[in-house]
Amino acid sequence: MLKNLWLGLVALAGMVAAADTAIYQDPDTGLTFSSAFALYKSDGRGITFRIAIPASAQQYAPFDAVLQVVVPNDVGWAGLAWGGSMTRNPLLAAWKNGNNAVITSRWTTQHTLPPTYAGSQYTLYKTGTKSNSTHWQFTAKCTGCTSWDGDGSGTTRYLNPKGGNRLAFAYSPSKPSNPSSASSSFPVHDVHGYWSHDFNAAINQNWDAVVQKLVVQ
Ligand code: HEM
Ligand SMILES: *[C@@H]1O[C@H](CO)[C@@H](O)[C@H](O)[C@H]1NC(C)=O
Repeated sequence: MLKNLWLGLVALAGMVAAADTAIYQDPDTGLTFSSAFALYKSDGRGITFRIAIPASAQQYAPFDAVLQVVVPNDVGWAGLAWGGSMTRNPLLAAWKNGNNAVITSRWTTQHTLPPTYAGSQYTLYKTGTKSNSTHWQFTAKCTGCTSWDGDGSGTTRYLNPKGGNRLAFAYSPSKPSNPSSASSSFPVHDVHGYWSHDFNAAINQNWDAVVQKLVVQ
């Protein structure tokens, strides 16, 4: 009885998923990240999404963000939706290829494989990108992930650098068909979920100096 209730709750958590954001001081990059854990399995496995932004970021204006994602090795691909939905916002999909990470920018208006999207550009860093026997992680800067024109009307939507933003993630146990290529197709997710990510806690003073030191792949 209790066990069934627990499993039911966990299944529900898999759908709405994720936890509150916490602060993470990253020794590899020197950045302060606001970090969220997105649960995808009832045994406690989850994907950690960390975001850092510059102190110069203004409301109703675009700003860069550094993203660091920590992924258990059983994950086939992991996704982040910057606008908190599958459609009409910048999507990231990422997977492991050998000891490295492949990241791809996508956009879609439908619930089908999202095509690549040139409106967001990711710079993958060597710094903060690594793997071991249980996890892999990558660190990348994104330009064009915090603002977008969702319906093509010319009305831009901006993430708020001073508050919470609703983000979404997706998890699939299955790998892309051609993992060495960022334009590979990949199968639908098993789990998706949402959380409010605290961007105010992601603010970094000295952004330019710290980000300049990160080694680009
Ligand atoms: C092969 C690629 C993909 C396929 C075929 C696919 C398909 C679907 C389908 C059919 C739904 C509706 C599920 C339902 O109503 O219960 C859905 C929802 C969703 N998907 Fe995907 N998806 C793909 C990739 C992605 C990616 C890369 C993300 C990035 C995070 C994502 C995020 C979401 C989210 C957040 C939802 C919830 C509903 C919504 O926000 O529209 N999906 N997807
Ligand atoms: C493996 O890597 C992950 C991600 O970098 C890290 O969080 C974890 O502590 C590492 N585990 C060990 C045993 O070093």
